[in-house]
Amino acid sequence: MKSREIPFFTPRPRDDELFGREYELRRLLSYIHDGVWVAVLGPRMVGKTSLAKSAIKRYAHSTNSMGIYINVASCGSFGEFSRKVVGSITNAMRTLKSRRKVRSLGVSVYLSDPGSLIKAGFQFNLEFEGGRSAVGNFVSAMNALPPNTVVVFDEIQEVRNRKDLLLKSLWEIYNERSDLRIVFTGSYSGVLKALFTAGEREAMFGRPPEQLILTPWSTKTAEEYLLNGFERCGIDYGYSEIADAILTLGTLPGWLTLYGYKRCKGEPHERAKHLVITEAILKAKRELLNYVSTRTEPHKTISLLKALSEGSKRWNELKIISGLSEPALSEILQQLVGELGVVKKNELNRANVTYEFINEIYREAAKYLSVAEIKKE
Ligand SMILES: Nc1ncnc2c1ncn2[C@@H]1O[C@H](COP(=O)(O)OP(=O)(O)OP(=O)(O)O)[C@@H](O)[C@H]1O
Ligand SMILES: [Mg+2]
Repeated sequence: MKSREIPFFTPRPRDDELFGREYELRRLLSYIHDGVWVAVLGPRMVGKTSLAKSAIKRYAHSTNSMGIYINVASCGSFGEFSRKVVGSITNAMRTLKSRRKVRSLGVSVYLSDPGSLIKAGFQFNLEFEGGRSAVGNFVSAMNALPPNTVVVFDEIQEVRNRKDLLLKSLWEIYNERSDLRIVFTGSYSGVLKALFTAGEREAMFGRPPEQLILTPWSTKTAEEYLLNGFERCGIDYGYSEIADAILTLGTLPGWLTLYGYKRCKGEPHERAKHLVITEAILKAKRELLNYVSTRTEPHKTISLLKALSEGSKRWNELKIISGLSEPALSEILQQLVGELGVVKKNELNRANVTYEFINEIYREAAKYLSVAEIKKE
C-alpha cells in the first residue's frame, strides 16, 4: 500500500522531503556512510528530528540496512533508557521477522527488505534475558541488531542520571560493533557534553562524535518556504504577511511550519501568528520547568528566571533577587547561556556585564513559572 502523501506543512517531525536542508542532509548521510557517530545539535524547532529521520530513511533504503529511531525524551535515568532501547529493539525485531509494520510510540524502523537479511542468514531473534544489569541488557540488545544498522537516539540529553553508565555502555558498543552507526540528537548539554569532553580516564575519550549543528533558516529560505507552501495550498496571502510572520516568529522551521499549517487550514494571518506564539511560549515554559526540575534549589532558580523575564539584569542584582549562592548562580547562568542557549550575556566591559533572555518567547515563558507546576509536568 502506498503511504498517504504528507502535506507541505506538517506539524510533526517528517522523514521525507526537507526544505532548504540539502547541504545538512548530504553531510549527515556522508557521516553515516563512513560509519562515523554523529550528534545533530541545535535549538528547539530547528528540525533536528526531521533531519535525523530523513537521513536514516534514505540510508536504510539505499543500502538495504536497518535504521531505527528511538525517542528517549522520557528516560531520565540510564535504567529507563536501557529499558526503552531494549523494548524498542525487541519489538522491532519481532515485527520485522513477521514482516509487519512497526508501530510503537516514539520508535520508527526503516528497512526495505527484511527478507533479504533472513536469506543472508540473519536471525531476527532477541532472546532477552531479564535480570542482567542495565548496561548488559542495553549492550546485548544493540549487539542483536543486523550489520550496519544506524540507530538514532533522539533527545539524548534527557538521560541525566548515571551518565557514567551510558558512556560506559556506548564505549562497549563502539568497540564491539564497529559496523553500527549512532546518531545522537539533542541540545548541547548533559550527556552530549560529557561525550565531547570526556576526560582522559573516561570511556569515549578521544572519540567524540562528529557534530552537525543546525541553525535557523536564512530569511530568504524562510520566505521561499512560506511562499511555496501558500501557493501549493492555494490560499490568499499578502507578501507583507509573510514578512511579518518571519519578523515575529523568526526563521526556525518548526514555528514557520506551524504558522503555514494553520494558514492553509484557513486561519487568517494575525490569528495564526497568535496561535503559534502561544504554543511557542508553552513549549519554552516546559523547557524551562524541565531545567528547573534538575536543580537542587528550584524556588531560587525560578526567582532568577522571573527576574530575567523583567529584562536585562546585572549579576549582583540576580544574586540578591534569587538568593542563590555565588557558585550556584554562576553555574546556572553558565548553563542557561551555554547548554540551553536561552539567555545571552552582554559584556560591555568587565565591570558592566548583564544577562537577558534571547527573545520575547522565553521572557514571556518565564513570567508565570511556579514550583507547583514542576510536579504537574
Ligand atoms: N527542513 C524542513 N522542511 C520542512 N519542514 C520542516 C523542516 N525542518 C523541520 N520541519 C518541520 O518543523 C517542525 C519541527 O521539526 P522537528 O520536530 O524535526 O524539530 P526539532 O529540532 O527536532 O524540534 P524539538 O527540539 O522540539 O525536538 C515539524 O513540524 C517538521 O515537520
Ligand atoms: Mg526533536
